[in-house]
Amino acid sequence: MNRFEATSVANVCCCFPKAFPEGFSWRTLDQWPVKCLLVCRAIICHTLIWFGWFCIICLLIFNPNEPRFTVTNASLTQFNFNNTNTMNNSTSTTLHYNLALNITIRNPNRRIGMYYHRFQVSATYRKKRFGFVNLTDSESFIYQGHKNTTFLQNVVLQGQQQLLKFGQRDISHFDKETAAGAYGISVQVSFRVKVRYGKLKANFFTPGTNNYQRIDCKLKLPLSVTNETSGSSSGFKATTCDDAGIFS
Ligand SMILES: *[C@@H]1O[C@H](CO)[C@@H](O)[C@H](O)[C@H]1NC(C)=O
Ligand SMILES: *[C@@H]1O[C@H](CO)[C@@H](O)[C@H](O)[C@H]1NC(C)=O
Ligand SMILES: *[C@@H]1O[C@H](CO)[C@@H](O)[C@H](O)[C@H]1NC(C)=O
Ligand SMILES: *[C@@H]1O[C@H](CO)[C@@H](O)[C@H](O)[C@H]1NC(C)=O
Ligand SMILES: *[C@@H]1O[C@H](CO)[C@@H](O)[C@H](O)[C@H]1NC(C)=O
Ligand SMILES: *[C@@H]1O[C@H](CO)[C@@H](O)[C@H](O)[C@H]1NC(C)=O
Ligand SMILES: *[C@@H]1O[C@H](CO)[C@@H](O)[C@H](O)[C@H]1NC(C)=O
Ligand SMILES: *[C@@H]1O[C@H](CO)[C@@H](O)[C@H](O)[C@H]1NC(C)=O
Repeated sequence: MNRFEATSVANVCCCFPKAFPEGFSWRTLDQWPVKCLLVCRAIICHTLIWFGWFCIICLLIFNPNEPRFTVTNASLTQFNFNNTNTMNNSTSTTLHYNLALNITIRNPNRRIGMYYHRFQVSATYRKKRFGFVNLTDSESFIYQGHKNTTFLQNVVLQGQQQLLKFGQRDISHFDKETAAGAYGISVQVSFRVKVRYGKLKANFFTPGTNNYQRIDCKLKLPLSVTNETSGSSSGFKATTCDDAGIFS
């Protein structure tokens, strides 16, 4: 700060247009009018206190909670693979799968609405991705009002997928799970979030980048052979997914 700036700041702060007739200097601090210093201190204190209140009120109003994802029901009606020998004597594994999921999303916030863009559900087995489905296209989105629950009914992942590097350990793990009667399949929900507060909207992603929100749901899925006559209940237990981590 040069001398002129310091003088004008002090003048403005203390409301004395001509407080320092002989010019400003820190060395003459003890000669400043006491009133001037008190006013200065009061201004600073008030600013800090009001700023603190402002922050607290903002937090109380906005105070976002994470939406909660739950896989409420699921049925796995096909899950097997066959190895085919390719020309190079290496085996390639083709997984056949048919997985249907019911997912609920609960927005616990009283004042925040959520927009989910590029909503995709995918599944992995032993860290190998085998299926995905887009629930929104690039234009659309899922809107979720405050204190509302969105039901995603019958999200179906079905088809076949060539698995690379599905080795002997994976196969023996698969066999063990087949014997035990349930497969450890992880379902990922990924999307981009926009948050709405009143008329304000805020992106919770950086546009143009690939940072999707990803939530893991670690499921134990028994293979349920659809049996019309017995009406087999799948025996699946509703599973809460990992913390969404959108606001943290
Ligand atoms: C999902 O819920 C609907 C309606 O409650 C039900 O008809 C359907 O069987 C469920 N799907 C799965 C995979 O459980
Ligand atoms: C692979 O498995 C599917 C389903 O079990 C079966 O329909 C198909 O014929 C098999 N393919 C080969 C090449 O074994
Ligand atoms: C078979 O192996 C050759 C040479 O090792 C390679 O160039 C070719 O891409 C392989 N083909 C397949 C289908 O993997
Ligand atoms: C592929 O298999 C044939 C017959 O089984 C064998 O002669 C050949 O050496 C194998 N090639 C490789 C690269 O393993
Ligand atoms: C799903 O969305 C992703 C990116 O949002 C896109 O790359 C992919 O092609 C889409 N797949 C389908 C089947 O629409
Ligand atoms: C929840 O959302 C649905 C569909 O958007 C809407 O019909 C319903 O009124 C909402 N409920 C609340 C409590 O906002
Ligand atoms: C379906 O259930 C009936 C009665 O429990 C049983 O007799 C039949 O073998 C089952 N079919 C399959 C394919 O599991
Ligand atoms: C899950 O879905 C199956 C059939 O899709 C149904 O029989 C079962 O009752 C459902 N379980 C729950 C908890 O909704």
